[in-house]
Amino acid sequence: MGSCSCVVLSSTKPLCRRILITYKRSSLFGFQIPIPNHSSVINLSKSRFKLHGSKGIHNHTCKSTVLGLEAAIDPKLGFRNISDSNQRGFCGSASNWGRQPKLLLNGCPVGGIDRKFSRLVSKVASDYRNHSTSVESHVNDTSWEKIYIKGRLNVNVKPLVIEEVERKDENEDYNLSVNKESLDNTTTVLSDKRIESEIEKEAWKLLRGSIVNYCGSPVGTVAATDPADKLPLNYDQVFIRDFIPSALAFLLNGEGEIVKNFLLHTLQLQSWEKTVDCHSPGQGLMPASFKVRSVPLDGKLGEFEDVLDPDFGESAIGRVAPVDSGLWWIILLRAYGKITGDYSLQERVDVQTGIRLILKLCLADGFDMFPTLLVTDGSCMIDRRMGIHGHPLEIQALFYSALRCSREMVKVNESTQSLVAAINNRLSALSFHIREYYWVDMKKINEIYRYKTEEYSTDAINKFNIYPEQIPSWLVDWIPESGGYLIGNLQPAHMDFRFFTLGNLWSIVSSLGTPKQNDGILNLIEEKWDELVANMPLKICYPALDYEEWRIITGSDPKNTPWSYHNGGSWPTLLWQFTLACIKMKRPELARKAIALAEKKLSSDQWPEYYDTRFGRFIGKQSRLYQTWTIAGFLTAKKLLENPEMASKLFWEEDYELLENCVCGLGKHGRKKCSRSAARFHF
Ligand code: GLC
Repeated sequence: MGSCSCVVLSSTKPLCRRILITYKRSSLFGFQIPIPNHSSVINLSKSRFKLHGSKGIHNHTCKSTVLGLEAAIDPKLGFRNISDSNQRGFCGSASNWGRQPKLLLNGCPVGGIDRKFSRLVSKVASDYRNHSTSVESHVNDTSWEKIYIKGRLNVNVKPLVIEEVERKDENEDYNLSVNKESLDNTTTVLSDKRIESEIEKEAWKLLRGSIVNYCGSPVGTVAATDPADKLPLNYDQVFIRDFIPSALAFLLNGEGEIVKNFLLHTLQLQSWEKTVDCHSPGQGLMPASFKVRSVPLDGKLGEFEDVLDPDFGESAIGRVAPVDSGLWWIILLRAYGKITGDYSLQERVDVQTGIRLILKLCLADGFDMFPTLLVTDGSCMIDRRMGIHGHPLEIQALFYSALRCSREMVKVNESTQSLVAAINNRLSALSFHIREYYWVDMKKINEIYRYKTEEYSTDAINKFNIYPEQIPSWLVDWIPESGGYLIGNLQPAHMDFRFFTLGNLWSIVSSLGTPKQNDGILNLIEEKWDELVANMPLKICYPALDYEEWRIITGSDPKNTPWSYHNGGSWPTLLWQFTLACIKMKRPELARKAIALAEKKLSSDQWPEYYDTRFGRFIGKQSRLYQTWTIAGFLTAKKLLENPEMASKLFWEEDYELLENCVCGLGKHGRKKCSRSAARFHF
């Protein structure tokens, strides 16, 4: 990739692809959409900007591909601007819903948009549906809204609650030394006096070396930069999830530009035309990764252009859709605002639309009986078959966090009122479900051990018909007297008792667990230190699958052999999430211990992606070296420990309002106490 010293300016060429936009009458969400009686053709699919003053030997041209409406390319960053958020298909209230466009690319409908929108027509059909947490059922249903208003939730919905949240932050009483003056002041963080160790210096150098530029601006970091790696596969791409620790390291270092660029460019990719064997996933899907390619310009010898090339799973091994990408994107967007104080980014119309598209996918009605998000195997950090399909904890914790972030960021107006209501409702249902059914400790396992099965009634104790024989033998001796954790997954007649670190840590960070459960998780990690941390923090999951289980559940995956990679390998990148959880629970000493352990080895081992063996003693068999999120995770962990007040902007305390605002109506009819609001007292 040649480097470009500046990005400009004049759109030199007629655009090579055109998007034909027609408008048609539709009754999306049950109300009529006015029809403008025209079609318009706008040239927005590919815009080219000449790059002048290219440092490389070639002339580079920047090209941005956008599938959107009334999109314009910001001459500097190449971002789209969409003049009316309602045009980008999310559920607004009837009065606010604008024209619903049909996009045609070269005469063909783009991305199945039309089909998808028409699916959104919904209606309240039953009482159950009135209580559904889906957006779709709420969007356009006045009867639902009436119920909701009765339940007073929409009175309590949080508008842009930035002020309130910030007030909370300032009132936090940390045991850790907090320089109050540095609150909201990134430059103070920068002027931190602690002298960087040689290892940190090396890490910063490597992190900077992993930066990818697009049209002359930094837009992300590649997954790994091992010069000896002759077969990088997709490790030369910018992964959304991998970039999070990089982004935080930069933000905590006062460097916001790369993060802003990343957020805006990945937002562009959200609207990409994406298909796997003729099927298009939802428009809000964010890619797992993207690559900046330098491609020769047609008919211009020696001239090149930068092109962003996303992977939504259509090339990924196993073709999995990255459910976590959009959730991480929302989490990072909020973090950017909280750390830099620049809230204008999240307020932009196109960014607001991006948030709503992601939420639309997550909150869509399905066949689910649970508030948890149903996903395929491998749709998150564990992106190969590991038996985590269904309702894996990691996705639920990220989903919960993304909803909490969105609640702070979504602008409340007539068109988003129902969305905000749906977010609140889903948050309370989700936290109740996870706290009640995913939590295990000594007492709960003993209850499961004595479960009656085949209970047919709404009052069943063993609601999911779990057969006690499922309690794995390793757990019987392993579960400590005090402490506990959230299990990996819950399905009918199936509890996945494995301990998944990321899901548990992120449940602490987001307050998906109760304060007592969150404490209990850290107690368990401390108690099981020799297994979960051992020689290298931290095990991705515990224990490993072996023998028949490995054969059947992983599909005999040679990369996921017992105690390797996703199957019980140790991933140093998890250090930053562990540190954040420890700071939140006022136990930074645990994080310090883990960081010290990692610091002893990471540099001399050349920053591996993961470690193998039961106690994390060997560098992973197929582990990449100079793995960026290992490097960034270490730096972010260090930065968080140094700046607990900054760290506090990245986690959430218990939200009692959510627990109280249940709309299930049980309490209101006086028949039975609603268990959701009781959830906070349970533990
Ligand atoms: C592996 C990991 C995935 C990560 C990617 C790039 O596929 O499983 O979580 O995003 O590598 O580092």
